[in-house]
Amino acid sequence: MDVEEIRKDFAYLDANRVGKDIIYLDSAATSQKPNYVIDRVNNYYRYENANPHRGAHYLSWKATEEYENTREVVRDFIGARSNNEIVFTKNSTESLNLLAYSYGLKNLKSGDEILITILEHHANLVPWQMVAKKTGAKLVYAYLNSDYSLDYEDLRAKIGENTKIVSITGASNITGELIDIKKVVGWAHEQNAIAIVDGAQLIPHVKVDVSDIDCDFLVFSGHKMFSPMGIGILYGKYDLLEDLDPFNLGGDMIEYVYEQESTFQKPPIKFEAGTQNVGGVIGLRAAIEYTNKLGMDNIYAYEHDLCHYAYSLIKDIDHIKIFYPQKAKTGSVLSFTFDDIHPHDIASILDSKGIGVRSGHHCAMPLHKYLGISATARASFSIYNTREEVEKFAQELKNVRKVMGL
Ligand SMILES: Cc1ncc(COP(=O)(O)O)c(C=O)c1O
Repeated sequence: MDVEEIRKDFAYLDANRVGKDIIYLDSAATSQKPNYVIDRVNNYYRYENANPHRGAHYLSWKATEEYENTREVVRDFIGARSNNEIVFTKNSTESLNLLAYSYGLKNLKSGDEILITILEHHANLVPWQMVAKKTGAKLVYAYLNSDYSLDYEDLRAKIGENTKIVSITGASNITGELIDIKKVVGWAHEQNAIAIVDGAQLIPHVKVDVSDIDCDFLVFSGHKMFSPMGIGILYGKYDLLEDLDPFNLGGDMIEYVYEQESTFQKPPIKFEAGTQNVGGVIGLRAAIEYTNKLGMDNIYAYEHDLCHYAYSLIKDIDHIKIFYPQKAKTGSVLSFTFDDIHPHDIASILDSKGIGVRSGHHCAMPLHKYLGISATARASFSIYNTREEVEKFAQELKNVRKVMGL
């Protein structure tokens, strides 16, 4: 990958327009968007704007074609068997809520168990708390080894005959660990539980084939993989999607509407009530095309190398603690604290040098509590970052304690 060529695609690096030089190390929160994606969205709204599925005129027909063709692009990208297994949502959070309401509430009862890990983002945790409260099911957690890697033995031991749902992140947004989801899905299926993968931090960085992994559902968000915000995906095996009740009700998702009742379309339209984020769908397609051109394996290798380089440069800084399971397979996220500086101070001091990292609990409060801390600082890396940027980040991080007078 030619990073200097890639950087020409990202306008945030134009210091004259932005107002300053930026080292953006917060791609796990949202990625920057390449001009290719922005231009495609722009063109859609300029020349092709219409509401899909709703008109017999040229522009509506064209919008329908773009919208439905994107389903095929997404299908191919994740290895699903049919376009009808690809549902457009707002983001991973909405996809997981859909599953909690439409699958969880319908199928779980008192005594059943939902298994998640302590690594989960709130999006894959709070909806299951709701399901557990309303159905009487129990929310069970798998925990970590002392090196912050997932304890697979603990996880396996907790999948039992009462387990009905195993919902697990494919990649942690804190430790960066890439989970062996195929193995976990296999364990879930041995006990006839369904397996859900939160792919929010996985799909942007690693090639995933849902048919090979055999997960029942997988969710991800476009905005973490170069596409606009407000577009996400729910993948589901078709017969399972067919069994789910619709989550939102209204226009487009119906078959017939009578005064007192209605019948619904088949998946995926059954889950796409109302006017959708068509610009987002078109942006997602452009983002996948951009990604495919670079090659998923190249993206992973480049990002992981940057992350590991950063780890090697900061690991011996005085008083630093890095929550990075070195022996596990990891992605491009590095979370850390100093034992005597609040992560918000770390982020502010780095920001004063033009370096953007995130600080806080990163929507993983139970994980932070489990680790005995309230917050971390997090640097996350993408294809537009360079080794020089990583070196500057490490250098400024070394200076943070000095700036604090420590
Ligand atoms: C692991 C993980 N799951 C889910 C989400 C939620 O994604 P979104 O806010 O796009 O719905 C995030 C967001 O950071 C995440 O890191």
